[in-house]
Amino acid sequence: MSPTDPEVEKMRDAARAMMKNAYCAYSGFPVGAAVLTDGGKIFVGSNVENASYGLTMCAERNAIFQAIAQGHRDLKAVVVVTPTETPTPPCGACRQVINEFNPDADIFCFGKKDVVQQFTLAELLPHAFGPQDLGGK
Ligand code: THU
Repeated sequence: MSPTDPEVEKMRDAARAMMKNAYCAYSGFPVGAAVLTDGGKIFVGSNVENASYGLTMCAERNAIFQAIAQGHRDLKAVVVVTPTETPTPPCGACRQVINEFNPDADIFCFGKKDVVQQFTLAELLPHAFGPQDLGGK
């Protein structure tokens, strides 16, 4: 996929709209995310923080878990939008969760003003540990 695909633009707008729902009481860093399924459905999420900091959940994982909980595991692409000059990539935990559902996912990161960076998950998480590794015990 490419950042100019209408589906990616739709995801970007949906993810950006989700920033207003971010609960980022501690970091002040709102993040919005969207995931696209093979069937063309889009699921969204925002980051949700907690006074017990470690319980914070990223926007990407919230979007992915929405898709999974509603029966859509065929994730094709992930979009993350942050309020930064340059785009920021997904954290390590989110990379691992994306890997669970699609090691070939396309990832698009948007900052302010639609500056975009595109990655494959393989670039962000080479030599990933995944479901296939559990068979070798
Ligand atoms: N965060 C995300 O939601 N996604 C990312 O890709 C990076 C970080 C959140 C976690 C925390 O609420 C805030 O951004 C600062 O780290």
